[in-house]
Amino acid sequence: MSDEPIYPHPEPYTPNFLRRIRRGLYSWFGLLNEWDFRIPVGALRFMGLNLLLVNEPTAVRQVMVSAVEDFPKHPYTLWILEPLIGRAIFSVNGAEWAQQRRLVDQAFQVAQLQRVYPQMEGAVAASLVRLEAQVDEGPIDADAEMTLVTADVIVRTILSRPLEGEEAEAIFAAFARYQKRAGRALMLRFLRLPRQRLQAYLATHATPIRAWIAAAIDRRLTAPAGQNATPNDTPSPTDLLDALIAARDPDTGEGFSRDGLVDQVCFLFLAGHETSASALGMAVYLLGRFPEVQQRLRAEVLQVLGSRAGAPDRPLGFEDLRQLSYGAAVFNETLRLYPPVSFFIRESQVDTELAGSRCPMRALVTLSPWVIQRHDQHWSEPNAFRPERFLTDTPGEANSPDDRRWARDAFLPYGLGPRKCPGAAFAQQEALLVLAELVRRFEVLPDPEHEPELVARLTLRSRNGIRVRLVRRSLRSELAPEAPRVDAPEWQQNPVQP
Ligand code: HEM
Repeated sequence: MSDEPIYPHPEPYTPNFLRRIRRGLYSWFGLLNEWDFRIPVGALRFMGLNLLLVNEPTAVRQVMVSAVEDFPKHPYTLWILEPLIGRAIFSVNGAEWAQQRRLVDQAFQVAQLQRVYPQMEGAVAASLVRLEAQVDEGPIDADAEMTLVTADVIVRTILSRPLEGEEAEAIFAAFARYQKRAGRALMLRFLRLPRQRLQAYLATHATPIRAWIAAAIDRRLTAPAGQNATPNDTPSPTDLLDALIAARDPDTGEGFSRDGLVDQVCFLFLAGHETSASALGMAVYLLGRFPEVQQRLRAEVLQVLGSRAGAPDRPLGFEDLRQLSYGAAVFNETLRLYPPVSFFIRESQVDTELAGSRCPMRALVTLSPWVIQRHDQHWSEPNAFRPERFLTDTPGEANSPDDRRWARDAFLPYGLGPRKCPGAAFAQQEALLVLAELVRRFEVLPDPEHEPELVARLTLRSRNGIRVRLVRRSLRSELAPEAPRVDAPEWQQNPVQP
């Protein structure tokens, strides 16, 4: 078996973009050629549209950080998501975006992470019970379980109630169908199919989701005082919906309208569970595929539990997670190899240059973490799984000066600059909790009969699930083995830093 974990190998170079679009109807990876992983900037013209793929780190920073006003989100981002998320933060630009961002940032303050921790714990405990029940039945579908646990986390943290019943299952299945269709609609738009027809095609799956979320918000907004998740005598919001309702623009004092809340919560459901499910599914695959990494992570978890007060079989606490530097490196390396949002699109508002290539006004500029994070000029052995790349400031770790440089300049799973994901620390906390509790209780083994088939649509997912086998471990039978203690650099512990 090759030491590289699976990935869809890019096709040989073809200048025929129509053929690439045909491949792209199934998965965005179909658009890519081998060549794209070697060049700084790629440019082509197709049906009157200028398309650029930007890989060179200084040009990427130009688009996403230093000249960000010249490269707003492309209008395709808005219309492809509009039936589902309306005019929520992700796809709008300018003053409309800035106001929403001020409110969302308030709702995602670091203190909020500690407040939602019990809700995350509840969802993870429910997931462990489900896994326990499946262990003796042969291989499990880790992708399905990660989708369920992340959906449960987002429902509990936004609405303070668990995900239950057929109604909720139906809602999350509709999300999955929406994202499958959205990827296809984007390719069809390149072929100039009318926007209204494509939006109607997407809307059928969006309507039940929006109605379900609107009903939950209306219940909260009309609940008599004292029946909200925030009783009158409690000054702090207890869930994200309360935090969004309470958020106020410091300049104008305005908050979200009722319709604005529906848009925002629809987006947070999508962003909060699809991305984390994608990353966690791939992390479980990697742990099964690389037993030595799994062993080291487990050793770190047991050492942290042993080094702090409390019984060693207690659940992992908020502070424990902050000690898992190797765990954070494993998750970062998973995000490098399998970035859940594998491409972003922007529109240039100026005639300019990007790394020496001409970028005309109105060009569609693509930045792809998938390409940049596997680019052979940015990373040594770009397709290999080596979590220690991210222990960059740790003496004695097998990382090169190049790794140190690129871990900062060519790593953008959460985006960069002012539009960087405000949910990054939330996602990191959730992922570490899920993975640490998983390796503590089970040994994850690969299923030799199964290979995930990756497709990139709105997010990166495996078309045929991720099958692994689990073997139960005893929580008390092992003493904490010696794990090398490492302190991760601060930027890595707090991925929200620009
Ligand atoms: C591993 C998990 C996640 C990944 C990889 C991820 C990735 C991203 C990326 C790449 C962007 C920016 C895209 C661009 O610049 O075009 C983004 C934006 C955003 N994400 Fe996340 N995300 C994750 C989890 C979450 C979670 C859990 C939440 C909330 C619960 C969240 C909320 C948001 C929001 C609100 C934005 C819009 C920011 C803006 O436009 O100003 N994300 N995310």
